[in-house]
Amino acid sequence: MSDAAKKVMDLAVRLAENHDLPDDALYTLITERNEETALFLRNEARALCERIYGRFVYIRGLIEFTNYCKNDCYYCGIRRSNREAERYRLTEEEILSCCEAGYGLGFRTFVLQGGEDPYFTDERLGSIVASIRGLCPDCAITLSAGERSHDSYRRLHDAGADRYLLRHETADPCHYGRLHPESMSFDKRMAALKDLKEIGYQTGCGFMVGSPYQTASMIVKDLRFMKEFGPHMIGIGPFLSHKDTPFYDMENGTAELTLYLLSVIRLMMPKVLLPATTALGTVTEGGREAGILSGANVVMPNLSPAGVRKKYMLYDNKLSSGSEAAESLELLRESLSKIGYGIAVSRGDSLVI
Ligand code: 5AD
Repeated sequence: MSDAAKKVMDLAVRLAENHDLPDDALYTLITERNEETALFLRNEARALCERIYGRFVYIRGLIEFTNYCKNDCYYCGIRRSNREAERYRLTEEEILSCCEAGYGLGFRTFVLQGGEDPYFTDERLGSIVASIRGLCPDCAITLSAGERSHDSYRRLHDAGADRYLLRHETADPCHYGRLHPESMSFDKRMAALKDLKEIGYQTGCGFMVGSPYQTASMIVKDLRFMKEFGPHMIGIGPFLSHKDTPFYDMENGTAELTLYLLSVIRLMMPKVLLPATTALGTVTEGGREAGILSGANVVMPNLSPAGVRKKYMLYDNKLSSGSEAAESLELLRESLSKIGYGIAVSRGDSLVI
């Protein structure tokens, strides 16, 4: 092994032992990564995850309930300015029947994800949450509906929502400004995440890997922010361009770096719930399984009605059938069992306190 490779391997060993590294060491671990370190981190991350969670993967039923969005994020296919997107909203009845079907399939967590759609006032969204709570008292309800006020988050929590996913997108304020229009604010985003945690939600943050203008030092900032914030869940996936956005010709993020970072994140935050995302499954065949083998322990099959799935296109070629679809849980079960994992039928609450 070359001296440079030894140096990186030494950092990887220290990360596995101490669950943290100084920022400059994390930077080197990323910029000078090689196949050997990647393999080492992957095996350490996977073994650590297995000690905590066993060889089980948690499943979350994803219900994409609206693709209307008042925001205009440069990377996102459902941004307000995309006139090509065919807009839809699910009714309360449709959402409830997704949950009912999902419950029958074995799902005990429902994730209501949507754009920032002003139609879903606290009254409307709160009533949907309360109905799901009534229908499935033993299930966890996760919301992923963007930035709302402290009061709104509190009301939705009171209505029965347990968890909230709000990716921070980037922990670097300048980078945030290059991914979003001026109407959006880094400080507001970070404040919203603090509100969620303070109210008592199991809170998820995260970012895109290889998003335009992202550098290794920004990724270090993301890792540092997350380690300090202490999220219950972390969602990362490769940036994938969407043809009808300003970033249509930007390069995609890679599976390789995403998998590497999944291992680093597992080692830095051993108990965190870490999905192998749809974007990872889209960028490379078998991406989600590779994610599990790199330290991820959650997958989020799509429970949305089949007719709307193609309309929730955050990026080009998003997977929406095959083992990605909730009704094909058997396919997912098979592909996980091939790599030695089972599906957990439980809420799969966070072990982070
Ligand atoms: N590529 C990958 N991920 C994307 N997201 C939005 N647009 C894209 C894209 N083009 C991610 C964002 C958002 C989450 C719901 O999906 O990080 O928070």
